[in-house]
Amino acid sequence: MVNEFEIKKQICDIGKRIYNQGMVAANDGNISVKLNDHEFLCTPTGVSKGFMTPEYICKVDENGKVIQANDGFRPSSEIKMHMRVYKERPDVKSVVHAHPIYATSFAIAGIPLTQPIMPEAVIALGCVPIAEYGTPSTEEIPDAVSQYLQYFDAVLLANHGALTYSDSLLNAYHKMESVEFYAKLLFNSKLLGGPKELSESQVQRLYEIRRQFGLKGKHPANVCLNNKDGKCSCHTCGNCSGAENIVNGCQKETDTDMVAEITKRVMEQLNLNK
Ligand code: 13P
Repeated sequence: MVNEFEIKKQICDIGKRIYNQGMVAANDGNISVKLNDHEFLCTPTGVSKGFMTPEYICKVDENGKVIQANDGFRPSSEIKMHMRVYKERPDVKSVVHAHPIYATSFAIAGIPLTQPIMPEAVIALGCVPIAEYGTPSTEEIPDAVSQYLQYFDAVLLANHGALTYSDSLLNAYHKMESVEFYAKLLFNSKLLGGPKELSESQVQRLYEIRRQFGLKGKHPANVCLNNKDGKCSCHTCGNCSGAENIVNGCQKETDTDMVAEITKRVMEQLNLNK
């Protein structure tokens, strides 16, 4: 078992990575690691996560209350958000919050990452929904994120940033990298005239591969009620606009969705959407 000091050093290394990759500016972002059900390590508030040393790292309990912090350091102002993830996802061992440029731009534009454009993103993430806006540091963000926790390992925070979590610190960080890479590709392909999406059957094959590999974490390939029929994927669920769509089954389309789809197909037939 890795000792606590080593984990603190690993948190500092990941802090450097998110800072050096431009996933955070100035003092933004926060990272935490679960030691056991009652002890968690987290980054302190108000410091650059790119220049931390192990003494910066704070220890809190499951309610976010300080167990140990060196003079001048207090736990992240977003500790409630981290604790909500651990509470509702006992499989999660680490949480990373950052403001990567492309993913955050989608979060600001209110566009969830739902277009199936490359195999890796479909396998690793499925889709990335946007949790409703909440005031930083309040219970509003944990409350907004809560409905997505059982279905996804990555969520965009409206007008704010991105949140990823996984069974290890490195995997939680890698999820953040994957989200940002997906957002960047989607953004660039939109500039190049729009992505050519993977077909529904291609998406289904990728979901099947994910299931066969037995990859850990939550993913639409495993939670969608209709996935066994090979009929449904996260990408056809209703734009990730709410976890309820997934719980209730993907075939449920709203009237508005249906009218939009019919209009799109008619326009395509008439070649009017060029
Ligand atoms: P902290 O420095 O308090 O963790 O806050 C940074 C941040 O990004 C808030 O969203």
